[in-house]
Amino acid sequence: MTGDEPRTPGVTRKTLLRAAMAVPAAPLLFAAVPALARTPSGQPLAATPESCDDDDLTPPQMEGPYFKPGSPQRTTMLDGSGTRLTLTGYVVGLACQPIAGALLDFWQADNAGAYDNVGTRFRGHQFSDAQGRFTLTTIVPGLYPGRTRHIHVKVQAPGRPILTTQLYFPNEPRNSTDSLYDPALLMTVQQVGSARQATFDFVLNVPGTPPSPSPTATASPSPTPPGGGTWQPYVSYAAGARVTYGGVGYACQIAHTSLPGWEPPNTPALWRRL
Ligand SMILES: [Fe+2]
Repeated sequence: MTGDEPRTPGVTRKTLLRAAMAVPAAPLLFAAVPALARTPSGQPLAATPESCDDDDLTPPQMEGPYFKPGSPQRTTMLDGSGTRLTLTGYVVGLACQPIAGALLDFWQADNAGAYDNVGTRFRGHQFSDAQGRFTLTTIVPGLYPGRTRHIHVKVQAPGRPILTTQLYFPNEPRNSTDSLYDPALLMTVQQVGSARQATFDFVLNVPGTPPSPSPTATASPSPTPPGGGTWQPYVSYAAGARVTYGGVGYACQIAHTSLPGWEPPNTPALWRRL
């Protein structure tokens, strides 16, 4: 989770996911969503979750007294002065499968350590994209008495229970004295100029099928006949192919190999409802 785990030989679920996400459709999909933040060297952040093992389930933490329902839907909440912080990551399930359409509801203190309990400053929710990715642009939250620096979040896969937890910053003096602090919830944070760039991947207790290392990406295109078949993962769909999902018809807009989490209702860039 912190990116410093030992490298192990052989095929892991991480490498499986990495391979699955390298299918030809991925660049097209990337073009349809906001670009990931970049490292100081200008390289895009790794396009894979850092962690998705069974024992890496993101632990829950207490909600605390400052959650408010009804936050605005947005990915940027620069509602006051402070050090800019961009947090990116993935929402994945037990099998390392990306979870599209997961709700992420963030709330945090402002630069002075105060929560807005009247309005919606530094509160916002969003949904993970077709590849389970999310990006939040905010500021580094201020400190308040009794706690180390943290960001609150609720994460919910579609139709699943809500995970309520908190994210922490490395190298904070108060981490060692905050009884709630959990190193499993440390973000990876780097300084980029005057701003900070953080990553964190949420691993939810959602069963699934590991992405295949090479689904059918190298297979010759075999378009699904128009009007034929129910949508399935790991199928190479050609532009124009038609499927049904949940009793609704969809037409493929971009040739791609399907993956769990890429169901037509979750991927309007890939599937047009008929
Ligand atoms: Fe808090």
